[in-house]
Amino acid sequence: MSQRTFSIIKPDAVKKGDTAAILAEISKAGFKLVAIKKIVLTKQQAEGFYHVHAARPFFGELTDFMSSGVIYPMVLEKDNAIADLRKLMGATDPAKADEGTIRKMFASSIGENAIHGSDAEDTAAFEIGYFFAGYELK
Ligand code: CMP
Repeated sequence: MSQRTFSIIKPDAVKKGDTAAILAEISKAGFKLVAIKKIVLTKQQAEGFYHVHAARPFFGELTDFMSSGVIYPMVLEKDNAIADLRKLMGATDPAKADEGTIRKMFASSIGENAIHGSDAEDTAAFEIGYFFAGYELK
């Protein structure tokens, strides 16, 4: 069944000039690009997005990084989108990511790992709503 997920091309990948190459991998894998925008988050906006990780020791580092430059938040659609995007991204730590995954190809560390993807339906709904209004999601 067709499903939507949420993704972000992170500041490390944008700075390296890998945005178009990552979008090409996503397109090749059969995802439809429903919506995309270019934005720089404030530290406070990054903290709101990652609130579930607020108690983690890396929260400060994560939110500094995610507010350090341009990101491309986007909404993607295909059958089984949430699980399929996570498979395409590869493991959080690029050193553990399989060959052919986005993180294997474009990420440099567990923190600077090129791409985010929602991990479940409820988080996808929250994350899509955090960045996009209903009228942007036709
Ligand atoms: P993401 O999928 O965006 O969701 C939470 C992020 O926390 C994750 O990607 C990683 O980039 C980051 N993260 C997880 N573990 C660590 C860690 N040990 N140090 C720094 N960042 C981390």
